[in-house]
Amino acid sequence: MSLPPLGYGVATASYQVEGSTHADGRGPSIWDVFAARPGTVADGSDGSTACDSYRRWEEDLDLVRDLGVGSYRFSVAWPRVQPAGRGPANAPGLDHYDRMVDGMLARGLRPLPTLYHWDLPQALEEDGGWLARGTAERFAEYASLVAERLGDRVEVWATLNEPWCSAFLGYAAGVHAPGRREGTRAFAAAHHLLLAHALGAQAVRAASSSADVGIVLNLAPARPEEGADPDAVAYVDAVQNGLWLEPLVHGRLAAPVAAHYDGVVADGDLEAVRGSAAWIGVNYYTPFRIAPARGAAGAVGQDTAAYPGAPAFSFAPRGPVTAMGWEVDASGLEEVLLDTARRAPGVPLRVTENGAAYADDVRAPDGSVDDQDRIAYYRDHLAAVERARAAGAPVLDYVAWTLLDNFEWAEGYRKTFGLVEVEPGTQDRRPKASYAWYAEHVRAAAG
Ligand code: FCB
Repeated sequence: MSLPPLGYGVATASYQVEGSTHADGRGPSIWDVFAARPGTVADGSDGSTACDSYRRWEEDLDLVRDLGVGSYRFSVAWPRVQPAGRGPANAPGLDHYDRMVDGMLARGLRPLPTLYHWDLPQALEEDGGWLARGTAERFAEYASLVAERLGDRVEVWATLNEPWCSAFLGYAAGVHAPGRREGTRAFAAAHHLLLAHALGAQAVRAASSSADVGIVLNLAPARPEEGADPDAVAYVDAVQNGLWLEPLVHGRLAAPVAAHYDGVVADGDLEAVRGSAAWIGVNYYTPFRIAPARGAAGAVGQDTAAYPGAPAFSFAPRGPVTAMGWEVDASGLEEVLLDTARRAPGVPLRVTENGAAYADDVRAPDGSVDDQDRIAYYRDHLAAVERARAAGAPVLDYVAWTLLDNFEWAEGYRKTFGLVEVEPGTQDRRPKASYAWYAEHVRAAAG
């Protein structure tokens, strides 16, 4: 199969950049409530101001256009569209995204919306959140409202971003909103998220027949270290990869974790999930190294509590690492793309996130951040994508994470992934060296 040239983009997510959390009738999300609890976010911050992108979106879109990329991946905040997670649309919320989509088209950018990047309306959490099956049905209603409004101009849609994080960081490790520690009940959340994706995809297609609807997963190779328990390695691989891909591709549960689904899966659910993703988005940052229990501590997000029911193990990232403690290994991206192509034959792939947090403490004479480490990260990972494509992985797009330094969830504002620095206080945007490097890479690739 001959592939079109790789498409390029850049991403953000609503709660991480928008701020204006009370504007135009937006309701509270689980992240507003979680971040307000002492001890949940490293620097005690929240997304109430973030990058002020709800008001500065035109300036942000100019930055995306000047980067020369073809696509902008952004997310729609559910609590702006349905402040309490159900019922008719809140018009000012939908109007905002309607204007943004027009703004993208006017700048020659393809909109790549994600319907859910973790900001669940708090009212739905109070009804059980993702542990409740009803949340999947609510998601489909919400998806339908958004698709009816934007479907005449948006073709490529993502339903969920990284449901692994929503289910296992949110309901098992408790380090992301809603901060619950429910052990293996988190598998019910995982199932309801997949069901939400399937029902949401149906709703988007019903509203817009040409819609190309996929899902964004944070897949990662699980690499055994010396002495690791093979069952632990297989379990981590199942939670991270198979739990999502097996139902999506084959309509079956991943064997190592299937026992945790008793009483959760209703008749017809797995059939609805099978084939529901027309493309799969892969977010990749680092490989996971699985070591015997009590090895070196894991990095941010590599928390053994997020694998409830697993045999004892630990994470052992090797150097060099980013500011998140995440091992830098571009070969993991090539591996995950080839592995996903093998596990999901015939399904087009998109790299929907890839990037790195670094200290950003070196400055050029003009004062801008001279982030040679981030440039090297992007260079090596883009080369890995090209190798995977050459070896047959059907990768259509590469989307960098992220346009702006922003609210990095439980890490607050201290971990910066942006191609553009945002000065706290003034909110001035200042491109880093990596922004110019990526722009040049994209320009050179276009020939
Ligand atoms: C991913 C998230 C994204 C960002 C990056 C660093 O897990 O999807 O919002 O925080 O990690």
